Amino acid sequence: VSTPPALLAVLAEQPIPTGIADAVEQLTARYKKGISGTRAMRSALDHAAYITARMPATAAAVRACCKHIDFTTINSVLDFGSGPGSALWAITDAIENITKLTAIEQDAELIGVGKQLAHSSTGIMHNINWIIGDIRQPPTLEPHDLIVASYVTNELSERERIQLAHTMWQLARHGVLIIEPGTRAGSHAIGQLRQYFLSLGAFIAAPCTHTQTCPLSENTERWCHFRVRVARSKQHRASKSATLGFEDEPYSFIYLTKKPQPTPAMRIVSQPRVHKGAVDLLACHADGIQQLTVPRKNKAAYRTAAALNWGDGYSAS
Ligand SMILES: C[S@@+](CC[C@H](N)C(=O)[O-])C[C@H]1O[C@@H](n2cnc3c(N)ncnc32)[C@H](O)[C@@H]1O
Repeated sequence: VSTPPALLAVLAEQPIPTGIADAVEQLTARYKKGISGTRAMRSALDHAAYITARMPATAAAVRACCKHIDFTTINSVLDFGSGPGSALWAITDAIENITKLTAIEQDAELIGVGKQLAHSSTGIMHNINWIIGDIRQPPTLEPHDLIVASYVTNELSERERIQLAHTMWQLARHGVLIIEPGTRAGSHAIGQLRQYFLSLGAFIAAPCTHTQTCPLSENTERWCHFRVRVARSKQHRASKSATLGFEDEPYSFIYLTKKPQPTPAMRIVSQPRVHKGAVDLLACHADGIQQLTVPRKNKAAYRTAAALNWGDGYSAS
């Protein structure tokens, strides 16, 4: 799973303004520095930079999270800090039977960009209810089945982030999905949200397989994150003066539900190493982080382990 093909097709039609490479560089620098309390995007050129260089990656991260969602009860989605609608592109790619989409975003011009992209698509993306608003003091909103915040809460203070989590939980009929950049700071923010949601009685559907203290929260070498491979289009490559046809997007996330969902015993939290005699796995479970070695001589177990990827669930037999 990666960037939804329909989104890639629409993005490929977008004109590339002069100066985009500089705009991408400056936008990336602003995100790296941290933008709590300020606006990262300030001009039409910034918006073009975002949809060219970031939207394919954020949509791919949301799309990757969708594999943890049981969509049987999800018909409506509300997206907080939607930007140009990246998460909604990802979710409507994952599931067809969505009948209601709502996006709330502070930047009216970015909503304009999102509308223009959605108009070139078919189906439900045409009917997004776009709301200009501040997610720190949102207007009255109707409950939705799934509430999403993708690459947004790191733009808020800790207090505002918890307040938003509270609002999201109140509005959710079934689930809340929060995604952040897969940096130490992003993972830390997700860890704080995890504690808060647990205090509300939420169930964690993914990535955690338990509700014990996160064994990575105090770890100095690792933090909880995953990766998705994103194909770089011609425009994307040009905007970054890059030659490689892909990039790996690191992301941290949590998916919480109102009712418990079946979870695997463990989660693979690093890329498995397959070598001649064995597969080495790093797995997170209720007792902490565990290094596992599955020797080749255990044929069936080895085959299962060799097919695992970073982020997969695992139940050792
Ligand atoms: C990094 S972008 C993410 C956009 C989109 N969710 C995605 O995944 O690509 C963060 C978005 O959150 C919006 N945002 C940040 N703070 C906000 C606030 N207080 N109220 C509404 N929107 C906000 C920004 O305007 C921006 O569009």
